[in-house]
Amino acid sequence: RTGRHILTGNCPVERSRMMKILIVGGGGREHALAWKISKSPRVSRLYCAPGNGGIASLAQCVPLKAMDIEGITDFAKKEAIDLVVVAPDDPLAAGMVDALQNAGIRAFGPSKAAAEIEGSKVFSKNLMKKYGIPTAAYEVFDNAEEAVEYLRKCSYPAVVKADGLALGKGVIIANDFDEAAKAVHSMMDDKVFGDAGNRVVIEEFLTGTEVSVLAFTDGETLVPMISSQDHKRALDNDMGLNTGGMGTFSPSKLYTDEMNDWCMKNIFMPTIEAMNKEGRRFRGVLYFGLIITEDGPKVLEYNARFGDPETQVVLPHLKTDIIDIFEAIIDGKLSELNIEWENKSAVCVILASGGYPGKYRTGLEITGISEAEEDPSVIVFHAGTKLEAGKYYTAGGRVLGVTAVADSIDDARARAYAAVEKIKFDAMHYRRDIGIKK
Ligand code: AMP
Ligand code: GLY
Repeated sequence: RTGRHILTGNCPVERSRMMKILIVGGGGREHALAWKISKSPRVSRLYCAPGNGGIASLAQCVPLKAMDIEGITDFAKKEAIDLVVVAPDDPLAAGMVDALQNAGIRAFGPSKAAAEIEGSKVFSKNLMKKYGIPTAAYEVFDNAEEAVEYLRKCSYPAVVKADGLALGKGVIIANDFDEAAKAVHSMMDDKVFGDAGNRVVIEEFLTGTEVSVLAFTDGETLVPMISSQDHKRALDNDMGLNTGGMGTFSPSKLYTDEMNDWCMKNIFMPTIEAMNKEGRRFRGVLYFGLIITEDGPKVLEYNARFGDPETQVVLPHLKTDIIDIFEAIIDGKLSELNIEWENKSAVCVILASGGYPGKYRTGLEITGISEAEEDPSVIVFHAGTKLEAGKYYTAGGRVLGVTAVADSIDDARARAYAAVEKIKFDAMHYRRDIGIKK
């Protein structure tokens, strides 16, 4: 390991400095980030706040909440952290990267102003309209009565969205007027999502396959990562309630090189340029939630960060040192870096607690993780776990992301499910159809 931190021919970023790195967050995405970051020969120490049971084997977990901007800034100063990687949406939207940078600490992730592309649906929809980026037709309302009036003449299904961050629950697909009006009242009058529901977006329902494209960008150069597809519903065949994501595969078979070229020209670069024109240069990972309609790809949503569980199937393909990429983005030198990918496929199956996304139990013992990892193509990323006296216990709704990397989706899928068979905890629930879709 130590032999490698010498300047390599194609790498313009200085490799001489060993770095202390802090990851903010504690889910499956952060475990995948910790796994990838820990492979960098440039890392001398890795911390994660708050981390989880799995991350604990790669990083020192720090008992600070991901939203504790002051605590994390103080910790980074005290420990002389060289780079903080802010992974979740809420600290980004709250301005953690700005706060760290103001304190003289290097931080990876968009500024508060740039993160608004995820933090406010009104902002992102207006941005797309102003700059001609393809998305569903929509109207914005800050008044429940006017919203309901508009719903009377809508065609159904229609989509009602809370403006702000709502833990992934702020989007309601309404089949008729009554459902839509109920959604508007609960967001705008009952404030079920707090201030996130002060404004709502009502938009046209689009049909098509959803593809996630995460991209590295320094606000000038944009490099899309390998595409992936998420499975948002709790049950097989896309039945049941919406969740944070029940599994992913990568690459998407639908998302061809031609489509990527089209998206670069009509969606990705126009978005970067639009953000620059608005004085909100975006540096970090920009996630394009696309839907491939009969009229071509359109943007359903932007996220200002890595996706979860997309990261678990995308980072295993990345050949380039991720710290080199983060530094190039911070320094605005992404164009100088050649980012390389393995030509592999990956499948991630989420093991959830029975009841999720509703009520579920925690503190249940998990067995079989090391047996599952006996296949060298399998990595078990922890999402909601705790390590206590050498044993793992459940600590969240989504518990593990069992990931396999192989030469084909079918092989990766077979290996991931074979590994899943070895893992057990009470009331464990998972989908059996991850990776089957086109
Ligand atoms: P969002 O947070 O905007 O991505 O919405 C969450 C999920 O709701 C998406 O991943 C889609 O599955 C669904 N969705 C959102 N907007 C639409 C739309 N206009 N048409 C169809 N489905 C949508
Ligand atoms: N997998 C969807 C998200 O990260 O928002």
